[in-house]
Order: sequence, then structure tokens, then C-alpha cells
Amino acid sequence: MNTQIVNIDPDNIDQDVINEAGEVIKRGGIVAFPTETVYGLGGDALNPESSAKIYEAKGRPSDNPLIVHIADQESLERIVKTVPDNARVLMERFWPGPLTLIFEKSDEVPYKTTGGLDTVAVRFPSDPVAAAFIRSGGGYIAAPSANISGRPSPTKAEYVINDLSGRVDMIITGPDSEIGLESTIVDLTSQVPAVLRPGFITFEQLKEVLPDIKMDPGLRPDSDEAPKAPGMKYRHYAPNGDLTIVSGEPEAVTAYINERIKKDRQEGKICGVIAGSDRIKAYDADIVLSSGTDGSFKEAAHDLFTNLRKMDQAYADVIYAEALPDAGIGTAYMNRLKKAAGGKVVNV
Ligand code: TXA
Ligand code: MG
Repeated sequence: MNTQIVNIDPDNIDQDVINEAGEVIKRGGIVAFPTETVYGLGGDALNPESSAKIYEAKGRPSDNPLIVHIADQESLERIVKTVPDNARVLMERFWPGPLTLIFEKSDEVPYKTTGGLDTVAVRFPSDPVAAAFIRSGGGYIAAPSANISGRPSPTKAEYVINDLSGRVDMIITGPDSEIGLESTIVDLTSQVPAVLRPGFITFEQLKEVLPDIKMDPGLRPDSDEAPKAPGMKYRHYAPNGDLTIVSGEPEAVTAYINERIKKDRQEGKICGVIAGSDRIKAYDADIVLSSGTDGSFKEAAHDLFTNLRKMDQAYADVIYAEALPDAGIGTAYMNRLKKAAGGKVVNV
């Protein structure tokens, strides 16, 4: 397939290009586009054939539902059965933005889009290019992250091009994603609202508005229950190298990693480290990337997927990453990092 690549400047949106992208969607095609979290791969959410094309282009299992993106709150009514009061509270506070809400779906949403579920995930992005594109494509865009299934979500246009060129009709390029991690997902269809995927909107922020909200117990590594978001059960975001997370006091973590690297390098392996900016110089690896200043989870979140892709570009055989505290955006960061590491965490 010939993939058309177009650029849109968010500060000066070219409506002709947006209209062209909208036409591709209305014809049943698929288009990658920027959002504030990560790049998405969009198709008409109300057309089952478009959703089928998205699964195929990503190599994604078809039981893993897609998020439907809208560009105004009124659009919600058509695709859901009811809007519970607690949803209204969250929408008021966090939409548009990086928060996805799960509702009972209306008959208008095909099962192909929801992976066979009776519920639908809905997100109203704040990114102006995303909003213009959604409107021009008819108002309902089903979109997973614009990566090949299993790879880190793309935070730069070049990663989208690497993964999806030749597999999609069009790629809209723009600046790097502002946030860098996918949206927080909250389920409002159960008795007690639950966070199904941690994200930039933190559990602590959600609790301020919905005091009874809980984390999906299926997210705990030792849980017998499956996670409620089908996508959370897959290994994700995996770099090519063998990734290990190291947790503990900073000095002990640095000493442990340097010890491991010494052995790895004797075996001829290319070694990578992801560490707090203050400790970058303390590591004797082939490639050391920063997870930002200690305490700034925003920097860490913003750079995580980029760092994983950079490790691949450097052909790292083994990668060690310092753990961050499990609080605030650190929870979302550690959730993605643990998946990328296939759960491999060493406590020192
Ligand atoms: O920030 C984001 O959410 C990005 C951008 C492009 O908007 N999208 C994204 O989509 O991360 P994706 O497909 O990579 O992740 C969607 C997640 C999956 O884990 C999926 O299982 C879950 O949402 N999900 C979708 N619909 C669901 C539903 N009805 N019930 C439970 N989980 C659902
Ligand atoms: Mg994804």
C-alpha cells in the first residue's frame, strides 16, 4: 500500500489537509494522527471494516478493543446507552484530555470496534490537530496507538513512519507527543468505578473527584484475576534488548547495575541504562539515557517510549532501568516499564 505522509503544524492548521484526511476516513481508509498522549491510528469507529483494517495494520489481536475518539461532549450520546453521574463529574474536570471512560455501548457501535464487548471506551483528546481530524472524519474515530502491536507506543512521527509505512493510507506528522504515555482508563460500568490503566491523570487526582474509585485488582502482578482492559494482559512496549528494572536505594542500584554491566560487556554485549539525570555519569555502559530529574515524573513519562526506541537504535542487547516510586504519574511509568521488562524487577 502507498502511504501518503502529510505534515500539519498545530499552530497553523491547514484545513485542506485535514479535509483530505477526513475523506480517507469516510472512504473507509485508515490514518495515523497526533494526539497529546501518543500518536493514534484512526478509522471510522462506526464502520466495522475500518476497524478490521486497523487490527490488521497493527497485527493486533481482534479481541483487544479500540478507543473511540470524539471532538465534543455532545457526540457521546449517540454511542453510549447512558451517561452515569460519576462520568459527568469526570468529563467536567478532565475532558478534553488524557482520560478515557468506559460506558455501556449503544447499538451504533459495531462489535468489531469493541472487540466483541458490550462496552465502549471513549476519549476526547485536547490536541487541536486530533480534534480537527476527528471532526473532519465524521466525529467518531476508533484509534489504538499507532505502533505495530507489542512495540512501544509512538511519541514521535518518525516512529509512526517506521512502524506503519506501507500499511496505512495516510500518516499525519507533527511535533513529539506532549505527554508521552497513553491515557488513563476509568471503567464506569461496574458498581464501583475502577482505573483499568494508570496514566497521566493520576489515581490521586481521580480520587479527589470520585472518593470511592479503586485500582483494577487485575493490574497487580500477583493477581489471579485478569485485568479488565483486555489490552493490559499482553506483553507490551518491548524493546529488542533484555530489559531489567532495578529497585532500591540509588547508590545500591548504581553499584548493582555497574556490576552486571561489567559481566555483560565481558561477554561482548552492548549495554544500555535508563537512569535519573543526576546519575547518568555514574554508569559505565554503551548508552545511558535520562529518565529526567529525580521527582519529575512528567519528564520520565514523556521520555520513556522514546528511550526504549533509542535503545533499539543503539542495538542494546541488555538494558537496565532504575525504578521510580509507585505514586502519581510514577504509577503509570512503572506500569509501562514493567510490561516492557516482562515483569523482571530486581530489588537490591
Ligand atoms: O492515549 C491513548 O489512549 C491512545 C491515543 C491514541 O488516544 N490510545 C491507546 O489505545 O492507547 P490502545 O488501543 O493502545 O489502548 C487501548 C486500551 C487497551 O488496553 C484496550 O484493551 C482498552 O483500552 N479498552 C478499549 N476498550 C475497552 C473496553 N470497552 N473495556 C475495557 N478496556 C477497553
Ligand atoms: Mg497501544
